[in-house]
Amino acid sequence: MQVSKLSGGILILAAVTIAAPLSGAQAQGAPEPIVAAREAGYDLMSAGVGLMKAGVAAGTPVKGYSDLAEAIVKWGKTIPAMFPPGSGTGTKAKPEVWSDRAGFEKAAQNLVDKATILVAAAKADDVAAFKTAFGDTAAACGACHKVYREK
Ligand code: HEC
Repeated sequence: MQVSKLSGGILILAAVTIAAPLSGAQAQGAPEPIVAAREAGYDLMSAGVGLMKAGVAAGTPVKGYSDLAEAIVKWGKTIPAMFPPGSGTGTKAKPEVWSDRAGFEKAAQNLVDKATILVAAAKADDVAAFKTAFGDTAAACGACHKVYREK
């Protein structure tokens, strides 16, 4: 389906799907929803990290952050699968995500490991341990971005 806009502002929907060639992405099984999902996942995770950062700065109890920390663990385990071959076009994912797959997977596992410690600290409501683990978790985000994400 193609949408073309006339000067008069009238939208015309033309069914040209038969004539339209499949884009490379579609031919490989439409990674666009995966790209949208992973970017939404990152945005949600980033918002969660922001909440925890504010809590750490304010010295609030950390027990309430265990679900957020657990979500980061789950997300970290999912990261490699969210980057199927051919899903880099038009995104900030660097080619190294695919050319250095082992390193990328290691960077994702590093996030899982650090966030697992974060979960334990939250469950124990150990503010000091949580602060340290939070710094390590945030560093795991940055370590991957440095190598595998465009600025
Ligand atoms: C294993 C590597 C890796 C780890 C670990 C990682 N990221 Fe990312 N992140 C990426 C890549 C690659 C992209 C680019 C994805 C794209 O453009 O589709 C990205 C994109 C993002 C984005 C932008 C999403 C958008 O809307 O385009 C945010 C925000 C983000 N990451 C936050 C985080 C946070 C917060 C953490 C840690 C809690 C984290 N990331 C951990 C690799 C990683």
